[in-house]
Amino acid sequence: MEKKTIVLTGASDGIGAAAARKLAEMGHLVIPVGRNKDKTARIARELHAPCLTADYTHLDSVARLAEELKKLGRIDVLANNAGGVQKERTLTADGFERTFQINVLGAFLLTNLLLDTLCASHATVIQTSSIAANLFSQNFSVGDWQNERAYSPFTAYGSAKLENILLTRALHKRFGEKGVAAAAFEPGVVRTNFAAESTGFVKFCYHSPLKYFFTISPQTSAERLIFLALGIPGETFIPGETYSGKRLMNVKFRDENGAAADALWNACTQMTKGYLQNQ
Ligand SMILES: NC(=O)c1ccc[n+]([C@@H]2O[C@H](COP(=O)([O-])OP(=O)(O)OC[C@H]3O[C@@H](n4cnc5c(N)ncnc54)[C@H](OP(=O)(O)O)[C@@H]3O)[C@@H](O)[C@H]2O)c1
Repeated sequence: MEKKTIVLTGASDGIGAAAARKLAEMGHLVIPVGRNKDKTARIARELHAPCLTADYTHLDSVARLAEELKKLGRIDVLANNAGGVQKERTLTADGFERTFQINVLGAFLLTNLLLDTLCASHATVIQTSSIAANLFSQNFSVGDWQNERAYSPFTAYGSAKLENILLTRALHKRFGEKGVAAAAFEPGVVRTNFAAESTGFVKFCYHSPLKYFFTISPQTSAERLIFLALGIPGETFIPGETYSGKRLMNVKFRDENGAAADALWNACTQMTKGYLQNQ
């Protein structure tokens, strides 16, 4: 088996931690990235890996993470998995809506800052999306990327997870022929620390014994990430697509000519241009 270098964000807990453990057990070099230093140090120790953290509510922190990751020289898989739902509409210090920055812009910036390494390594870039992209994106409106017109915690989350899918397509369109295989997946409904920063019914469901009735384990969900991480682009999965398990996910939002994906890519490039120009 070829030993891969796999960078996994959101690996201090939940689906990311389960995937990191399994991939390391299989003999791959896994670099777990978390936000909380203690939690990340714990898993990094367990995997004999460096402890890397970044808080995606600060783009500076994402840029510093990219600098650290460039030192690896080679990245076979970048799994952009950090994310979650928030409780209210607030802006980050960078001036962007928090759900959008954590789930979308942070991963966009990290991926773009690492593009030279990713192309040279013929990397697979995985994005954790969600079925929320279908269930909660009724208010999604091209151009209103940060839900300024109609906000609720879950419509913002649904939009962000749909934007993950659009950016995966856009990454494939721009860098597929340069060696990057992009793919997204929805992990199922998983009993993790998800929604801890939210409030109300969903938080209650995820953080009470009720969760055992409607969720799958992080280990089961991690198999969906691993299917892409160890897959062969063009053979076991189709680059640019979004998966639900081993099947293609039926994304309800139609963007046949890729205009929405292009517009979002351009908007994110504009929002992060201060970082991208400094490369
Ligand atoms: N659980 C579900 O049912 C479900 C369903 C669909 C999609 N998802 C998606 O799956 C991914 C993993 O979530 P999970 O269920 O495993 O939840 P989790 O247990 O809460 O894990 C979330 C991970 O993301 C990190 N993270 C959260 N906010 C961050 C920030 N501001 N900056 C950097 N890292 C941050 C966390 O870091 P710390 O722990 O170190 O703070 C943690 O490692 C997310 O993208 C989520 O949206 C989950």
